Amino acid sequence: MSGGDRPGTGHRTDGGVASEIDRIAELAKRRGFFIQTASVYGGVGGFYTYGPQGTPLKDSITDSWRDLFVTRQGNMEVDAPTVMPEAVFDASGHLDTFDDMILECPGCDGSHRADHLVEDNTDIDEAESLPPAEVGEIIADNDIVCPTCGVALAGEPVEEFNLMFETNIGPGTASPGYLRPETAQGIFVDFPQLAEYARNQLPFGVAQVGRAYRNEISPRKALVRVREFSQAELEQFIDPETDEPPLDRVADVTLPLYAARQQEADDGGVKSLTVQEAVDSGVIESDWIAFYLGLARDWYESIGVDMDRFRYRQHLPGELSHYAADCWDAETEIGGDWVEVTGFAYRGSYDLDKHADHSGESFSVFKQYDEPVTVERPTVDPDMSELGPAFGGVAADIADALAERAGRDPDAFAGETVTVVVDDERYDVPVEHTGFAVEEVTESGEHVTPHVVEPSFGLGRLVYTVLVHAYREDQVDGDDRQYLSVPPAVAPTTVGVFPLMDRDGLDEYAREVAGQLRSAGLSVTYDEAGAIGRRYRRQDEVGTPFCVTIDYDTLEADTVTVRERDSTDQRRVPTAELAETLGLLRDGDLLFDEL
Ligand code: ATP
Ligand code: GLY
Repeated sequence: MSGGDRPGTGHRTDGGVASEIDRIAELAKRRGFFIQTASVYGGVGGFYTYGPQGTPLKDSITDSWRDLFVTRQGNMEVDAPTVMPEAVFDASGHLDTFDDMILECPGCDGSHRADHLVEDNTDIDEAESLPPAEVGEIIADNDIVCPTCGVALAGEPVEEFNLMFETNIGPGTASPGYLRPETAQGIFVDFPQLAEYARNQLPFGVAQVGRAYRNEISPRKALVRVREFSQAELEQFIDPETDEPPLDRVADVTLPLYAARQQEADDGGVKSLTVQEAVDSGVIESDWIAFYLGLARDWYESIGVDMDRFRYRQHLPGELSHYAADCWDAETEIGGDWVEVTGFAYRGSYDLDKHADHSGESFSVFKQYDEPVTVERPTVDPDMSELGPAFGGVAADIADALAERAGRDPDAFAGETVTVVVDDERYDVPVEHTGFAVEEVTESGEHVTPHVVEPSFGLGRLVYTVLVHAYREDQVDGDDRQYLSVPPAVAPTTVGVFPLMDRDGLDEYAREVAGQLRSAGLSVTYDEAGAIGRRYRRQDEVGTPFCVTIDYDTLEADTVTVRERDSTDQRRVPTAELAETLGLLRDGDLLFDEL
């Protein structure tokens, strides 16, 4: 996380901000957004259960993501297992490099992220990008102590800790497996089949929504750093030489960009540029990354992220994941800290190359040319009756080396001998025995290993951001009110239905209205308990955007009162038009003021 241009972007939270977070924690628990898992057994850090309000909130954010990033982009979606054999993560590099820096306290035996200790106690941001030894020195130089027990940590070793959860597949230990730390590998490892489904036509995108697992050293900040979480990832496969994104669709979207060079400059800050300006000026190198930053920016706003508490930050060179050539994070401000909610990484051909090398299978696509092209192709046809007696047991390897040299460096065959290297030994071969020739061949296409552009969204961090950014307090009729100003389209419940009294036929009418609204596909809560004001408050604090009250006039005129959450304004609507009206309000096709 980096310091930035907004107030409160440091790493320590002040009293006011901390209490905003505390209030969200209290609300989340009391109203069932998320709860600590298995708390009857003391709970375990980094695991949360989404409750009856949190589950539909997360689901509607997921649905909206799928609608934009899968359906509207014409992408495919898959659902791979969460446990994968060791070979997958050996190839992907996660076994070797998916590490965080750990420091264990000699006083209380607590484990800490060493880079977070530095960020929390100094002005240094992004300590993750520093080597462990340097982080250890900074801890010593700044007399940093254990946040749990206060013991001095100077001189304690800072080591690498692999974040993957290991398991055994089947009985015994012969077949180790790992819980996936990202959904992406489930897409890469089956790329050959997926490319066939895409009829080998680049570009194509494959999405996946599912669980990922990381054995975080110190889970913290509620849903921000947990050990099991949901990701929504898109792997966009492109031919880097030819494929262009539909940039014109987002060219005018303005992005708050905190580029690496701005972070490194003394007076650097966030700069607002349109997508087109960012591409033209080279601030964003990849057009594809720029396209997705533009597409995502408006989506974040649509789900309730406060755009005054949002930025895109480019990774510093030392911070990049082992697979990434460039990466921009979408960050939201929560409790005074910037939190990554999405990584937009340019992964190049890293993953497909690795799986091709390790599996021996082809991870390229055959790209058909519009017209066949004729090219000159150097070939060899070594005369083994000469090479065998001359070179004995290495003759076959020399023949292979000649073929490789001809393709790479045909000019080497211009003289009387050509030199090849086999097992570090140099061999001079008379060109007349190599059968070297340059043939004209007609080719209908070529094999291309696609590059990958990956937007990777963390759904839990987005749910948490939406809760924090939507939280409001005000007074209504002299009473304090807490409410969540979430957009109607993502609210856990769209409408609360209340009879003014639970008698005189009002309750029956109200139940029937609730049933009709549910049949129309709306998410409805029915409540007849307590004073009407208290019922409104209950819906306000879980973000229900509309409440419908059935009163005595309803029985006379078949109209109901619709009340809007944020303004608390009320309008009368004919019961017969209610379902359609609420559907339009939810989808943003009608504004409450237009009623
Ligand atoms: P951080 O630096 O905060 O640990 P990261 O760089 O490791 O994040 P990525 O590897 O890019 O994150 O993962 C993609 C997305 O998955 C992140 O943007 C985030 O939203 C989510 N994510 C990653 N780790 C966690 C976690 N421990 N808890 C919740 N969400 C996570
Ligand atoms: N797929 C990006 C990540 O989770 O690391």
